[in-house]
Amino acid sequence: MDQYPTIAVLRNLYVTPSARGRGVVKQLIETQLAWCRSTGVRFVYAGAYRSMPKLLSRFGFCPLPQWSETTPMAIDLLLGPCS
Ligand SMILES: CC(C)(COP(=O)(O)OP(=O)(O)OC[C@H]1O[C@@H](n2cnc3c(N)ncnc32)[C@H](O)[C@@H]1OP(=O)(O)O)[C@@H](O)C(=O)NCCC(=O)NCCS
Repeated sequence: MDQYPTIAVLRNLYVTPSARGRGVVKQLIETQLAWCRSTGVRFVYAGAYRSMPKLLSRFGFCPLPQWSETTPMAIDLLLGPCS
């Protein structure tokens, strides 16, 4: 039987308009990646809409081949951000 590394999917990032621009999404992403690391998750995937690819790439997410209107992205928490 094959053994697969643990995978998490980050989706639906939304900050209420009155709270935007204060670092909330940054904290959310950092907290979620820290939780993934602490629980043994290796790969984190995200389907990024609109300008999110730019934001997620700042946290080390790399674009994957596109198959829908979203830009699929992933980070390998073991090997680190893509270069
Ligand atoms: C996109 C969204 C989640 C950002 O949340 P936020 O809490 O206002 O963002 P932050 O204040 O934490 O910004 C953190 C950093 O990311 C940058 N940033 C924020 N929104 C960004 C965006 N859409 N694209 C690129 N960079 C962005 C900020 O300039 C900031 O950079 P800095 O650290 O150099 O100052 C929020 O605007 C939102 O909920 N939008 C509507 C829903 C949406 O489009 N979600 C994404 C698709 S699922």
